[in-house]
Amino acid sequence: MFQAATINSANKVDFYGELCQQLKGLLHGETDTIANAANTSALMFEMMPDLNWAGFYFLKSEKELVLGPFQGRAACVRIAVGRGVCGTAVEKGTSILVEDVHAFPGHIACDAASRSELVVPLHHNGKILGVIDLDSPSASRFDADDQAGVEALARIFVEASY
Ligand code: SME
Repeated sequence: MFQAATINSANKVDFYGELCQQLKGLLHGETDTIANAANTSALMFEMMPDLNWAGFYFLKSEKELVLGPFQGRAACVRIAVGRGVCGTAVEKGTSILVEDVHAFPGHIACDAASRSELVVPLHHNGKILGVIDLDSPSASRFDADDQAGVEALARIFVEASY
């Protein structure tokens, strides 16, 4: 049984260093994409404070993301590339950090409680496979350290699963 260990790090860089080690251990020896996305979502949701949604959207065609494994409230299933925060992150090929979702034109509200959001693309061999999406009920929940940390988690997920 995998037991997530409490992380007592005083700063976010150390926190994500430890979370990355836990994710490597959790995914070790498993290559199934859905299982690994499910466990990655569960670990992020359990360990990262102040989230109301943590999960994956996968590119099922060049034009559309489809909901993958997640933790949180039931969410919208299909997001066109270029739409919302997730579709914009795919179109630009970069992470997007939204301090206030009400100020992001085209934000897609899946849970009315969400106030800030971090979306990180999954890169593999020059292509984008999908995104990790994190929502928080607090404004400005995510900063550059969270972005760098979740980008590291995304790399670990991709290396284990593809
Ligand atoms: N807010 C996202 C939609 C997905 S939900 O937050 C789970 C967006 O604007 O793309």
